[in-house]
Amino acid sequence: MRKIAILASCLLSVLFAQAQTVLTPNTIDQVIKEMTVEEKVDLLIGCGQGKGKFPGSAGRSRDIPRFGITSAYMADGPHRLIIAEKREFDSHEYITTEFPSGANCAATFDVEAVKSVGAAIGREVSDYGLDILLAPGENLLRSPLCGRNNEYYSEDPLLSGKIAAAYINGVQSNGIGACLKHFAVNNQETNRNMMDSRVSERALRELYLRNFEIAVKEAQPWTIMTSYNKVNGKYTCEDRRLTETILRGDWGFQGLVMTDWNAGRDAVASINAGNDMIQPGQQKQREAILAAAKDGTIPMELLDLSVRRTLELVLKTKTYAGYNYPEETDLKAHAALTRKVAAEGIVLLQNNGALPFSEKVQQVALYGQTSFNLIAATTGFGGTIHGHTLVGLVEGLRNAGLTTDMELAQRYVKHIADENKRLYPNGLPPFSITPLNRPDEMPISAEEMAEQVKNNCIAVVTIGRISGEGADRNSKEFYLTDGELGLLKQVSAAYHAAGKQVVVLLNVCSPIETASWRDMADAVVCAFEPGQETGNSIVDVLTGKVNPSGRLPMTWALKYGDAAADANFPSEYVFDMSAFFKAYANSDNMKNAAEANQKYEEPKPIKDVDYTNYDEDIWMGYRYFDTKKVAVAYPFGYGLSYTDFGYELLKSEVVGDKSSVTVKVTNTGKVAGREVVQVYVHAAKGSMDKPEKELRAFAKTGLIQPGQSEVVTLEWKTGDMASFNTKANAWELAKGTYTIMVAHDVNDVRCTATAKVDKKQLYPVNK
Ligand code: BGC
Repeated sequence: MRKIAILASCLLSVLFAQAQTVLTPNTIDQVIKEMTVEEKVDLLIGCGQGKGKFPGSAGRSRDIPRFGITSAYMADGPHRLIIAEKREFDSHEYITTEFPSGANCAATFDVEAVKSVGAAIGREVSDYGLDILLAPGENLLRSPLCGRNNEYYSEDPLLSGKIAAAYINGVQSNGIGACLKHFAVNNQETNRNMMDSRVSERALRELYLRNFEIAVKEAQPWTIMTSYNKVNGKYTCEDRRLTETILRGDWGFQGLVMTDWNAGRDAVASINAGNDMIQPGQQKQREAILAAAKDGTIPMELLDLSVRRTLELVLKTKTYAGYNYPEETDLKAHAALTRKVAAEGIVLLQNNGALPFSEKVQQVALYGQTSFNLIAATTGFGGTIHGHTLVGLVEGLRNAGLTTDMELAQRYVKHIADENKRLYPNGLPPFSITPLNRPDEMPISAEEMAEQVKNNCIAVVTIGRISGEGADRNSKEFYLTDGELGLLKQVSAAYHAAGKQVVVLLNVCSPIETASWRDMADAVVCAFEPGQETGNSIVDVLTGKVNPSGRLPMTWALKYGDAAADANFPSEYVFDMSAFFKAYANSDNMKNAAEANQKYEEPKPIKDVDYTNYDEDIWMGYRYFDTKKVAVAYPFGYGLSYTDFGYELLKSEVVGDKSSVTVKVTNTGKVAGREVVQVYVHAAKGSMDKPEKELRAFAKTGLIQPGQSEVVTLEWKTGDMASFNTKANAWELAKGTYTIMVAHDVNDVRCTATAKVDKKQLYPVNK
């Protein structure tokens, strides 16, 4: 079609000297010259959501056929390409893969594995005919209760940045654009459209922007999405310093910036701040931008710059190239990849020998309603699993040649159906933007339990926690419910009395409390949210087909409140969505959410709801626990294996801007396995307090056979060991001694070296 349009338009140009130019890489200037101001403004306003060519997708940019300007089609990620599976008058099904969650991806500590996930989801975008995937999200895990943690990666900016970069590089290897989001400091969902993250310049630079900086520099995403929240009083989408001074100025970002869907209040301010596209786009916003362009409130050069960036984006798309997409994708290969990568991101937390299952284990009793109601992904736009593609635990066990207690399984299935009827008398919601009210645990009588112990070789108790976009979790959810605790006590007592073992499986979106109950289990496995192959990925680890090599990308605290950041998070607040939507409904124009934002009368500012003070400053996650010696349940970077590894430091160097360590990793155990090598640095103090350790490099070995070794070299820039000196508006590499620690996790250092920096070094940033 596009080619025909171009041909026709070329023909017309010959016939009429006055006809417009057709968009090509060489005609951008001319096209901009010929565009009316109305057309320019059209390009900068998105085209709404959900309908049209790709039902269920997030939107598109506007097409202007007279210049051959095509739309760029966009859909959400990061776990799944979100498009409708069914279309009107179309028998074809547009099925997409539910890939492993952000936490699983980060827990692999394996950039190649994550790149392959990015490449596969990018391929689905391409195969189904779209152009841009609105992913990855890479806000930091500041609180275990943030509703969107499972879309994000880590509490550490280096791990988060490297994993995001790998995902983006994978997506973009298909000629598909990624959209890095939500820029920036969007670490809570409560009141997300209005809340203000109040954070120091040092914490911003070293933590909340640093992860984005790494991803931008290492992957150059085609697009970036600003976030809903404010930072230090300004909506991020209306903050020119964030977008222009830092993102484009300091980091050299080349692509297009778009707003989040209905973010901010003032579309004109968003354009003036350096956003190139307002999403999903409202008529009123178009009118406001047009008026501002005409009266000079938006300078024409700035408008033209955004138009240029949009045209450059369009030129890169497959839609512009007229790509003849197949509408079929390799679901089989992507399922296999999901199974593999998710298993690599499963973390073994405890094990007294119960895992891997011994050969004697034939039949496994599955307890806990989550065993039959698995959480493969987030609620909300990031994922949402479709029943027919989810591999459950019973199926996973069967695929491994094991059986389960089917009587118990049938009872759970009935119990869940009854519970759902009780909880949702009007039917299950298609998806929820708040954490789902999930079924309670079911009572099991002593007689039934005795029978089950007799019939089964081992017990697996699954605990689940779900969350998603639009709401945070309550601190109560950090702990087991009475029902879960009662079940665990009962199963543990009964199986242990018979000399049988108990495994606890955590199918959770984020950390929960474990210290008070973990001794009741022989092994504890954290699967996070593994995607559509959940049952297979988990059973692969339980049986030892995959030797676990996942590591925690976040600290697991002993109790809620232990982390410095917990003091400032809406952990007890239940956001009243219905009041918010009522405010929308009362606005003159119900569809105009941006305007509704304006009309929504904010009550007196409430701490942690209207504003959140990041009082902990840079002391977030392990930087706090490790430096202040606060005990944790499981430290950052932690994870067990079915084998052991020995470390030998071969070389450590800091020469000019190049720093590196070379380490020999030897498998000293009995089965093959992979090891994650982590390098932490304690920097010289200089003029600022420094964390005890900061992750500066990591690498994952290949599969090492027992008795074999692998030599791993990890490199980083010396300048990356600098801290941000706010007064000097510069990164400051202090003079003095640096301790370089090669570790198994942040609490388990295996080898240490020191290096000297002879002269203080300043790396100024833009003002
Ligand atoms: C979310 C974004 C998403 C967008 C489009 C917003 O509500 O915050 O992550 O990309 O919707 O669906």
